[in-house]
Amino acid sequence: MSLQEKLEALKTETAAKIAAASDLNVLNQIRVETLGKKGPITEVLRGMKDLSAEERPKVGAFANEIRDELTAAIATKKAELEAAALDLALAKEAIDVTLPGKQIPQGNRHVLTQILEEIEDIFVGMGYQVIEGNEVESDHYNFQRMNLPKDHPARDMQDTFYISNEVLIRTHTSPVQARVMEKHDFSQGPLRMISPGKVFRRDTDDATHSHQFHQIEGLVIDKNVTMADLKGTLEVMMKKMFGADRKIRLRPSYFPFTEPSVEVDVSCFKCGGAGCNVCKHTGWIEILGAGMVHPDVLTMSGIDPEVYSGFAFGLGPDRVAMLRYGVNDIRNFYQNDVRFLSQFKGE
Ligand code: PHE
Repeated sequence: MSLQEKLEALKTETAAKIAAASDLNVLNQIRVETLGKKGPITEVLRGMKDLSAEERPKVGAFANEIRDELTAAIATKKAELEAAALDLALAKEAIDVTLPGKQIPQGNRHVLTQILEEIEDIFVGMGYQVIEGNEVESDHYNFQRMNLPKDHPARDMQDTFYISNEVLIRTHTSPVQARVMEKHDFSQGPLRMISPGKVFRRDTDDATHSHQFHQIEGLVIDKNVTMADLKGTLEVMMKKMFGADRKIRLRPSYFPFTEPSVEVDVSCFKCGGAGCNVCKHTGWIEILGAGMVHPDVLTMSGIDPEVYSGFAFGLGPDRVAMLRYGVNDIRNFYQNDVRFLSQFKGE
């Protein structure tokens, strides 16, 4: 085979390989093998010294021509492969804007939080401050300052989780009364506050009892505060919470820190007083405990009962929520079952 024929065959063979190259690596390999220093074309050019002076320039020119052609073919193929790789990458990364979006589940505030906030709003509208108390309290504030000395039999009403002899988790929100009273500066105006929060009692949990529940404490101290103020305030609250035609009634009761003490009932919001399962066929629903702040409680907080008087109340929002939504097991509020909680979307 003459050199020209060899070169011609090499060209045909390489051109076919280039055409068939499926990726850039293969193409690069072809380039190195054919056009590199150890490749067949370089070899042909080296072998030219054996040719006649006449033939040399012809073969040389032909070899150069073939090298240029193959170089060009490789460049074209390279551009083609790069364009195809780019197309593929773009296709892979393409975003289909017509696909439906991800549905992110939306939570809601806990039903008790909703009730607490609703009651807070009612009282803030009447000029009350909202004050947070401590869940861990001292025996001193939880009991003694509320007129329940260490040996007082009424401590039995609130079976207690003690942390030590003097420290406990509060059994009611009433200790906030003492903490607020002892700090209040009456030259700045009367004391009006509510204090919502968790309370704890040793109780066997069942449908209507939980060792953890909520209270909202209310306290007003000023000159000339009377039982009529208490009654009027609670009536406004009940009407706002349960409907404008609600009535309330007060029944005598006992709390060591109020005198007189009352139990407050609201006329049934479901049957309007005729009797139904919600009010256990009495027409009335027991909703809170209240009374006039005991003079000794005032004195212990540095307030002169000859000058100032006041009322206090303690409301159970868990009970409000149970009544309003027909929830018949208080434990539902504390088990955090989303199927239960998500029913109360709020506004
Ligand atoms: N602290 C009382 C209780 O937990 C409720 C209450 C508060 C009663 C304020 C009267 C005044 O039972």
